[in-house]
Amino acid sequence: MTVLQVMSDTAADRVVLRTSDPAVIGAELARRGIVFDRWPLPADPRAATDDILAEYAARIADLNADGRFRHIDVARIAPDERDPRWPQTAAAARGKFLAEHRHAEDEVRFFAAGRGCFYLHLDGEVVAVVCEAGDLVSVPAGTRHWFDMGVRPDFLAIRFFEEQDGWVGDFTGDRIGEGFPGLDELLAA
Ligand SMILES: [Fe+2]
Repeated sequence: MTVLQVMSDTAADRVVLRTSDPAVIGAELARRGIVFDRWPLPADPRAATDDILAEYAARIADLNADGRFRHIDVARIAPDERDPRWPQTAAAARGKFLAEHRHAEDEVRFFAAGRGCFYLHLDGEVVAVVCEAGDLVSVPAGTRHWFDMGVRPDFLAIRFFEEQDGWVGDFTGDRIGEGFPGLDELLAA
């Protein structure tokens, strides 16, 4: 379930808005200059990367009509309980972008399967967007944000980069994210 939760940036328990209505989510994000879109689900989320990219070729071409995204790939993580190292792998993956950071370019992600939550730290507010399969979101360049994939990371996402190192984060050093509900808490609420 896609969820939008808007909170005060100084008090996480001051929830200004919480909704799962896609139309409201789109409008609230658009009002803040954030692109949010819905694309169809893939025929087979377990398909090979090239097949996933081929399936979305027309939409990708449309989104990238001006050619600014020169690197488009697929990121995939899924729980593997048989792998004894899975807990460490999951924790390491989750920890990577859990602290507030910015990027020099827009962070554009289409969730073809699974979920993840973006937290946008805007003027006086934190806007949490739990993205589910079918959601596309674009975090504008320079926006303070963090990302939580939860205790059990599980997603398939198409990523769009302008530069090869576009994923690199400029961490602000602000530990604000620690005071806000994580992906799992947001979904359980
Ligand atoms: Fe980021």
